[in-house]
Amino acid sequence: MKLLLLGGGGREHALAWKLQQSPLVSSLLVAPGNPGIAAIAECVPLEITNPAAVLALAKARGIDLVVVGPEAPLVAGVADALRAAGVDVFGPDAAGARIEGSKAFAKEIMLAAGVPTARYELFTDAAAAAQRALSWGPVVVKADGLAAGKGVVVASSGEEAAEACRALGALPAGQTILLEELLTGPELSVMALCDGSRFVLLAPSQDHKRVFAGDLGPNTGGMGAYAPANFLSDAQLEAIGQSVMAPTLAELERRGCVFRGALYAGLMLTPAGPRVLEFNARLGDPETQVLMMQLDEDLAALLRDCARGELTARPLRQKPGASVGVVLAAEGYPDAPKLGDAITLVEEGADELIFHAGTRREGSILVTSGGRVLTACARGASVAEAKARAVALAGRLTWRGRHFREDIGAKAP
Ligand code: AMP
Ligand code: GLY
Repeated sequence: MKLLLLGGGGREHALAWKLQQSPLVSSLLVAPGNPGIAAIAECVPLEITNPAAVLALAKARGIDLVVVGPEAPLVAGVADALRAAGVDVFGPDAAGARIEGSKAFAKEIMLAAGVPTARYELFTDAAAAAQRALSWGPVVVKADGLAAGKGVVVASSGEEAAEACRALGALPAGQTILLEELLTGPELSVMALCDGSRFVLLAPSQDHKRVFAGDLGPNTGGMGAYAPANFLSDAQLEAIGQSVMAPTLAELERRGCVFRGALYAGLMLTPAGPRVLEFNARLGDPETQVLMMQLDEDLAALLRDCARGELTARPLRQKPGASVGVVLAAEGYPDAPKLGDAITLVEEGADELIFHAGTRREGSILVTSGGRVLTACARGASVAEAKARAVALAGRLTWRGRHFREDIGAKAP
């Protein structure tokens, strides 16, 4: 099979690494890729949110399967265009990607499908939301459609919530606001590879969204992850498949949306059971980096079967032990990342991998070109062992002002 992978982050580097191990893959093209990916696959520049441009490249290169990493091409209708032209693609149509782009739509689907989630009220007027917030007391305020956790405020009082509503209302497109029941419990990510109606579950994982150790500081795209999230039993994972993934796919299909791609549920394990906080229509970053290290399957075969609607539902084989990924970020990330600093790389040891994200070649040197620069990953017999190795690896990767969390996976039992 000739594969085309879209994206250029740590998630895509990990996917490329895993896909290259499949005997089914005769060639792997990545657009736009990054310097780490360029060492293991051919990279080409491409405007990946332009459906016509992606389709033209797929046709010109005789591509059998397109794998879409990030959400932007999905929202832009890249998967729709490929599918309409008869090209197999792993990634949902734009209609399915709305489950990530609109919190209101995600809630509507969950309510219709009976998926356990926080109680909520939807407002199309920020002032009305602010008024109502006063009587909720502690509550979560969410702006519809604002990405990366930036539109979410966990308010400890009605006054704080009302203030958050007013602040969001001042933003463009900040009028549609959700007030949501404040839940408690550990958070985890569960991802399903879906063929429209059937799915297989990757190992549960846990992201670390705050920038500093101890879950302090502002939200980020994710500062590190580990898998498996070992506080969840196999039976609990299976139950999440049945209570979350299965009814969501069925509800989407009922609405005419055949979801062929990754369905990511961000969950909170509350005392009353798991509750969905959010859906994404793609794999997580940095979760994918550790999930690929743990997965003991032919990824290309799985994604092809999803794209063709030919998946066999079954438990996936996982490698023993655990993997931890530590994100190394540029100075100033997430507020104002400083770019262009020269990076010192080191050799990876056994069961260690360095995935690139915000890196760029400048002549013979590698420099930072994004907020999240590298993910240092390691596998070990336990989360604690993998954590120690990943943190040590991260410590050997240096540039001016780089920072990372030393506590990724520290809360794993
Ligand atoms: P979201 O963008 O919906 O994933 O929210 C970002 C973060 O806000 C989550 O990772 C949680 O830490 C927190 N959060 C969101 N919804 C709730 C909720 N209902 N109760 C408590 N915390 C929440
Ligand atoms: N790591 C969180 C996400 O990919 O959305």
